[in-house]
Amino acid sequence: MTGNVSTVSYIGAIILFILSLGGLSNPESSRRGNLYGMIGMTIAVLATIFGPRVSMAGVPWIIAAMLVGACIGIYAARTVQMTQMPELVALMHSLVGLAAVLVGLASYIDHSVVLFGAEKSIHEIEIYIGILIGAVTFSGSLIAFGKLNGKIGGSPMLLPGRHWLNLTGLLVVIWFGCAFLNAESIADGMMPLFVMTAVALLFGIHMVMAIGGADMPVVVSMLNSYSGWAAAATGFMLSNDLLIVTGALVGSSGAILSYIMCKAMNRSFISVIAGGFGTGSGKPAATGGALVPAGEVTSISSVDTAELLREAKSVIIVPGYGMAVAQAQHTVFEITKVLRDRGVNIRFGIHPVAGRMPGHMNVLLAEAKVPYDIVMEMDELNDDFPKTDVAMVIGANDIVNPAAQDDPNSPIAGMPVLEVWKAKTSIVMKRSMASGYAGVDNPLFYKENNRMLFGDAKKMLNEVLTALKA
Ligand code: TAP
Repeated sequence: MTGNVSTVSYIGAIILFILSLGGLSNPESSRRGNLYGMIGMTIAVLATIFGPRVSMAGVPWIIAAMLVGACIGIYAARTVQMTQMPELVALMHSLVGLAAVLVGLASYIDHSVVLFGAEKSIHEIEIYIGILIGAVTFSGSLIAFGKLNGKIGGSPMLLPGRHWLNLTGLLVVIWFGCAFLNAESIADGMMPLFVMTAVALLFGIHMVMAIGGADMPVVVSMLNSYSGWAAAATGFMLSNDLLIVTGALVGSSGAILSYIMCKAMNRSFISVIAGGFGTGSGKPAATGGALVPAGEVTSISSVDTAELLREAKSVIIVPGYGMAVAQAQHTVFEITKVLRDRGVNIRFGIHPVAGRMPGHMNVLLAEAKVPYDIVMEMDELNDDFPKTDVAMVIGANDIVNPAAQDDPNSPIAGMPVLEVWKAKTSIVMKRSMASGYAGVDNPLFYKENNRMLFGDAKKMLNEVLTALKA
């Protein structure tokens, strides 16, 4: 393939990636967006392999590596549960970071390219920054992976003087950066490079460990952004324009997502990154001086739930992580159909951080073929709860916790929530009184107009459906 054909292919791939991002911004066009992305990536890979920068001798190696990668990818995609998807995404981000570190090291010790003067300095700065971002992304994503699958606790780990530690780390990175740029030989440059990599790895661990459970969405999208910048840095090191543009697209869209997440959670971006937001006392999230709710919990049977739904004129369903665990979305849709046929005004309220990844609930509801026009954002229907007969919470907890509004000491204080308790009756469907991801007790369960339907969401919804049809 000539250089011109390769360049045209790269431009085509970039356009397809932009169209893909545009398509993914809306559930209705998301399939098309995915398709554009797949075609774009196929063109990008082919144009790179058969482009002028890869010798034919290297092609079998690349194909062999791709086959191994494809086998692992297909295995992971087939076996991973929908609830494990966020962990898988975090793990993939870590691989992008690792790739940036390895490419950086390889570019530095590569003797085939000899550069002088300003060109040499620019190349070394690219390498240094690329490895720095890659190492932070790698270790931070691994910790996020551990936090998302529960192997690492959700409470923030707040080291004494953590801001000073971060500042010291930054100064060390700058100091060794100067030493790296002034190194006489590759051997001399290795030591500063390794010290900086170690500091960056520790910073990644420290940064994510310091983030409390409920703030994890911001970290997930932030690491998504970092992985993009790591890819862009790799593009600079390899002088690959397509990788630079693609990395910048991922990096900037991840940054926008992080901003949206922060806004949705009423958090300041800097406070989240600095860690321990909302835990003013410096203690772990669940014990940060929050009020312990008290009162009577009233449970309800599935038959009585069906009766309440049958008599209701308006119903709002609030799905959460538990719906994903129970895979209850199809039964939810069956119930929706029955109620709509009876003339009930039924809508879904989606919290921006419901579940464990951005858009988690939208994906599940779309899979179950719930019409898009009854799936609303939190802000669109929060004012409608006082006019609603039944608010049905399916496996959600933190996103419907009134403590976010009423208790300034709560670790989730200030986070906007769906005000289900303002409905005539709210029904919470979950297996026990256990807390949600943020580890905070929920006063909603004790409210007078609230009923608890205890059990696995899918099992209980099936019982409700049977009772509704009876
Ligand atoms: P959570 O607060 O985690 O609550 C989910 C509830 O589902 C749990 O209390 C659990 O109670 C229940 N549950 C689990 N399995 C169930 C099953 N099979 N049947 C019925 N119920 C079941 O979820 P949420 O309300 O969706 O809030 C999301 C939380 O995750 C927020 O704190 C958010 O910050 C955090 N987070 C979000 C993201 C993104 S990007 N969305 C990423 C990371 C973290 P039982 O055990 O009693 O059943």
